Amino acid sequence: MRTERIEGLVDDRPGEKIFRVHRDVFADPELFELEMKHVFGKTWCFLGAESQVSKPHEYITSWIGRTPVLVTRDAKGVLGAFLNICPHKGTQLAHAEHGVSKYHVCAYHGWGFDSSGRNVDIKDLEKGLYPKSFDAYSHDLIPIAKVASYCGLVFGSLSDEVPPLEEYLGDIRPFIDMAMKQSPKGMEVIPGRVRYTYRANWKMQMDNAMDAYHLTSVHASYMDVMTKRSRGEGLADDRSYDWKKRLTQLGGMFDFPHGHSLIWNNQAEVQKRPVYATIDEVKARLGPLQADWMLKSKIAMIFPNFQIADATTLNLRTFRPISVGLTEMRVHCIAPIGEEIGARRHRLRQFEDFFSASGFATPDDIACFESVQRGYAAEPYDYLQGYFRGFDSVEKGANDMAAELGIRPLHSQVGDFELTTEATMHAPYREWVRLMRDGVARNGGAK
Ligand code: FES
Ligand SMILES: [Fe+2]
Repeated sequence: MRTERIEGLVDDRPGEKIFRVHRDVFADPELFELEMKHVFGKTWCFLGAESQVSKPHEYITSWIGRTPVLVTRDAKGVLGAFLNICPHKGTQLAHAEHGVSKYHVCAYHGWGFDSSGRNVDIKDLEKGLYPKSFDAYSHDLIPIAKVASYCGLVFGSLSDEVPPLEEYLGDIRPFIDMAMKQSPKGMEVIPGRVRYTYRANWKMQMDNAMDAYHLTSVHASYMDVMTKRSRGEGLADDRSYDWKKRLTQLGGMFDFPHGHSLIWNNQAEVQKRPVYATIDEVKARLGPLQADWMLKSKIAMIFPNFQIADATTLNLRTFRPISVGLTEMRVHCIAPIGEEIGARRHRLRQFEDFFSASGFATPDDIACFESVQRGYAAEPYDYLQGYFRGFDSVEKGANDMAAELGIRPLHSQVGDFELTTEATMHAPYREWVRLMRDGVARNGGAK
């Protein structure tokens, strides 16, 4: 594949306010293979939360693209991240998403590894008459190139060439802080998760979380239910927000280098936000500006496949590419460590209401993703028009709100809720093009 083809897939002409993405970006299996190598192989990817691996020998399994990864704390508490495969024949080693284990034993021929990744047993080694040449090779688990944490979130990379994690995250970090510093004791992943697959490309979720334009059409039934609840019909506790009030609020976006972006909205009913119960403590600890921003609804897109949604409730959303038209979602609800039981219950009910696999959002979103993926098969169709909305009010650099926060976004935007900008999706595709073009150029056009 040639770099010209890659560049042609995203028609990005900011001077003319044109931004279009070719349908092949979502549907071409050859591009998918290149993404695994040049995007997922060359960035930092979210692996899990430190609270999930807080004790010696505790582990989680995760993925970087299609590469299985084992994140485990050893006996001394040191965190390591390894390819979750056995070096003997490549079998996936650990299968549970989370557990505590001093040893991991391969299901195929029984090789054993400790929680530091060291090989501790090769079954029937003596009788196996291995040649001396076998000793020249390490039989330990293979560490991934980089692992690092930011604010309780663990990221890993298959590449040595990525910038340091803090530099990669850049000025999206204050928004990670706003999610992860909602409590003086830190935040934890609530045990359990929502996991499902959808039959569409991974970038459908990348776009959709940053796309508030779809809310009033795809989630019309949710809004109807909200209206009924606000009239006292059905379940009328304070898990639901009044959408009519929400539509009157200001919103906007920022975007950053390395493909990250953030969409935010003021909230009319701040008292329903899970953080509201402890907002005085937050104000005292972090100041009124941080507290004010914690009450806003926000979704942070951390390229390539991780989102922190603090909208109807606070959750971590990871979307894993399986094939060009199949993606797995994992959604973890997070909460303050030691949260009061009533507040925890309220948080979980809000989470289930909208974001769980059977909640008001997920099935309707998935139906659209799969419908869109079918649409990509239309041969005479080329560029999508879903990236123009809001272009006219995008400002270069920092606006007043960014300046107040002390961040330096590449672009800023502020407007009515109904602006529902699509400019939030530009930064991820710019980074996608940069990585794909550089990767293809490096490989001389070969895969
Ligand atoms: S593949 Fe793991 S022991 Fe053989
Ligand atoms: Fe949705």
